[in-house]
This record gives sequence, C-alpha cells and structure tokens, in this order.
Amino acid sequence: MTLPAEPPLPDPPRYGHAPGAWPLVGHLPRLVLRPLHFLDSLPGHGDVVRVRMGTRTVHVVSHPALVRRVFTDRRTFDRSGVLYEKVRALLGNGLATCPNAEHRAQRLALQPAFHPSLLDRYTAVMAAETRALTARWRPGAVVDVTEEAFRLTTAVAVRALFSAGITPHAAEELREALEVLLRGLYTRVVAPAVDRIPSPARRRYRGALARWRTGVAALVAAYRAGGTDHGDALSLLLGVRDEHGRGLSDAELGDQAATLVLAGAETTSSVVAWALRLLADHPDAAARLRGELDAVLAGRPVTPADLPRLPYTADVVRETLRLYPPAWAITRTTIRGTELAGTPLPPGSIVICCLYLLHRRRELFPEPALFAPDRWASGGVPRDAWLPFGTGAGKCVGDAFGTAEATLALAAITSRWTLTPVTRRPPRPVPRLVLSPGPQPMRLTARTPGAATPVDPGPGARGV
Ligand code: HEM
Repeated sequence: MTLPAEPPLPDPPRYGHAPGAWPLVGHLPRLVLRPLHFLDSLPGHGDVVRVRMGTRTVHVVSHPALVRRVFTDRRTFDRSGVLYEKVRALLGNGLATCPNAEHRAQRLALQPAFHPSLLDRYTAVMAAETRALTARWRPGAVVDVTEEAFRLTTAVAVRALFSAGITPHAAEELREALEVLLRGLYTRVVAPAVDRIPSPARRRYRGALARWRTGVAALVAAYRAGGTDHGDALSLLLGVRDEHGRGLSDAELGDQAATLVLAGAETTSSVVAWALRLLADHPDAAARLRGELDAVLAGRPVTPADLPRLPYTADVVRETLRLYPPAWAITRTTIRGTELAGTPLPPGSIVICCLYLLHRRRELFPEPALFAPDRWASGGVPRDAWLPFGTGAGKCVGDAFGTAEATLALAAITSRWTLTPVTRRPPRPVPRLVLSPGPQPMRLTARTPGAATPVDPGPGARGV
C-alpha cells in the first residue's frame, strides 16, 4: 500500500493558543462535549498549544522532539501535580504514581518482575485466561466487548501478580474488587465530592476497597509465612529492601500491587476492545488477519510460542495503539522555569504530552486517520513518532507484557469468533484516564478456522 508523502514538521516548533475559551470555564465545555474533535483541532494552532481547563492553563504538546524532551528531562518535568496527588491519595504510592524523586528506587525494585525470562510464565496465564473468557461465549449472544476485555486483563493481572497460593475463588474476588475500584477511580479524581455523598455506588466502592485490602493482606501474610520466592511480582516486592535494610510494609505492598494493576489492566483492555471494533469496521483487514491466523494455527488454539509468527496480528495491535493510545494524555508539572517552543514556562506549569495527537500528526503518518496496519510492514516510522508506552526512565515497565497480552487475545478471539457491532453508530471514544471506546455491544458468531467468514452487513461505519 502506498500512502501519500507527508509535509515536513515545523522547525522550529510553534507555540499557539487554542481559540474559543469561555470566561471562567475556558475550553472545558468543548473538552467535555466533543473531546476528540477539540483535540484534533489543536495541532492546527501549534506544536505546543495553550488550553484553559477552567481556571487552570495547560500546555498541550504534540511535536515528537518536544514530547521526548518532556518525557526525558526529569529535572524539569516531574510526575507531580493535582492529578497524580489524587490518584496517589486514592490508590497509593506505587511505581506508576510516585514522584520522580522516589522513582529510581521503586523502578529498580520492580523491574525484575518484568524480566523477559518471566514473560513465558505470564503469557501462559494470558492464554489460559483468554480461553476461559471465550469458553463462556455462546453463538448468537451479545457481549459488551469493552467489559469482556476488561474482565480478561484484570484476571490476568491478578494471576500474574499473585501466581502462587491463590485459589480461583480468591482470584475472582480480587478481580471483582479491582474492577469496581478502577471504574470508581476516575469519577473520584474528577469529582471528589461523590465520596462525600452516601449512595449505593459509594458503598460498592468502599466495599471493594476493603475487600481488595483484606485480600491482598491475606496473601501477603501467606507469602511472608511461607518464606518461598515464587518468582512473581509479589515475591519480588517482598524481597525489596531500602538502604537501611527495611522492607515494604503490608500497606506499601498493597499500594504497589494496586498501582501495577491500575497501570496495566485498563490500558491493555482498551487496546483489545479498540482492535476488535476496528476489525469489525474494516473487513479487508479482518480477512487478512484471519488468513494469517488460519495459516499459522491450522485450527488449534493460539499459544505464546506462535507470537513471532503472527506479524500481521502484531501490526494490527501496533496500528491500534497508534490510533487509540490508551495513555492518550500524560501529564507533567514543571519544577523549575523552562521554555517550550520558545515560550517561557514558570515552575508549576502543567504540560500534557498528548500521544493521541502525536500519533495522528500528518507530518509523521500519511493519512493519519486511516486504520492501515500495512503501514508498519512498509518501513519504519520516524523517530519518536510512535510512543504509546512513553520513553525515557519512566517508560512503561509492562510494554512487552501488555503487547503480548493484547496480541494473544486478539488472535484467540478472531480465529474463533466473528464479532459484529449491534449498532451502526461509530464508537464514541471516552477520554478518561485511559482512552476507552465506551460500551460496545457485539453479536458473536462462531467461526470454523479456514472457512470464509460470512459477510455481515455490519454497522457500515468504516471511518475511525
Ligand atoms: C498496551 C498496554 C499499555 C500501555 C499503552 C501502557 C502505557 C504506559 C505509558 C505511556 C507509561 C508512561 C507513563 C508516564 O511516563 O507517566 C506507562 C508506565 C507504566 N506502565 Fe504501562 N502501559 C501498558 C501496559 C502495562 C502493563 C500490562 C503493566 C503492568 C503489568 C504496566 C505497568 C506500568 C508501570 C508500572 C508504569 C510506570 C513505570 C515507571 O514509571 O517506571 N503497563 N505505561
């Protein structure tokens, strides 16, 4: 496939202002009502654009060189500020939420849990959990694909973290608690008042928090009593010592576990859900994917060993991460004076690296709104054009984990099922902590590998 050549990036990068701010509320109404439409308009005003969210000013960055600078200049751009403080207050201080000053020690402690040699163990869990999920599916039934993908990734996260000594019942209890916590987290970050008003939702959230804490505490106690290294994330965390020889307390262990799952579960589930929707809307890409899966798997279930032989499946995941990066907007706060695109920023300025915009810059990706997995086979992408996992010292520690999980799930589902959206409406992306496609009811049709997929009129929506 040949896509048209792209124009060059502005050099030097330009600073601009988003027009149309309202008194007091700024651009909030536009962000709330048509978030992606508003975001898409920003690069037209500059590579760094000043946006007003209520009384706060933020600087939205979409130029690759500047995105890299914000990610890597950690003495200027810190993981602090209101958003991080709220998430820390709700879920705890772990690797994904700690300020830069604590980051190195935490990263060194957790990195071994993501060593490539452990990936085989995790991928076996992923393959088993995907099989368990689809075993519940029945032909003709309608499932919410977004919910199903979330169920899968929370289950994988719990089993990968606590591989040993957890019964299926305890794992399911923890998974359910997590689901409620992660769903409730965003509401509490944007509207803390919800926690002050008694309601069934608040009861559910508090109940889930208590169950999560008790469940993790019981596991920690069992691991401590057993004294065995199970080689999983919790065992590694139990072995962590600071410079005074002090280990993590039970509460700190719970925080690390919760923030790991926070960082890993909804991000990965959103990739799976988006990919299934994109494939339903692009039958040619879906047919090509099934062709690859049928040829490689010949009707048997996918296993982790198949991953290197599924290049098109991997490209579908890559292209989905480009169009809908789950971590679509990453915030930093300046801790000393600096400048961006020639504009001075005092300490305390809020900078947002918008990966959603970066990945759709037409200077970097020809026909950027087009879902074209082929673009990955036909050559590399410019430096820093595709950063769904961030970059620098805080780059996603679970990138290989998340990619393997999404690829295996997509292969297992697509080789055996055809999913047809029940509504013709295009998805309405929900940019919250993660860029989710929102509820996506789809009808399930079982498919025999190798057989041509029956043509379904589908929702008709081909755009993205
Ligand atoms: C496709 C799925 C995923 C995407 C798109 C993703 C994206 C990201 C991004 C962009 C960051 C950098 C955030 C920043 O710089 O502030 C990050 C950090 C992180 N991610 Fe992921 N992630 C994914 C899956 C996972 C998984 C599966 C795990 C764990 C099991 C995980 C754990 C983490 C942690 C702990 C951090 C913080 C790393 C650090 O600060 O050193 N992520 N992720």
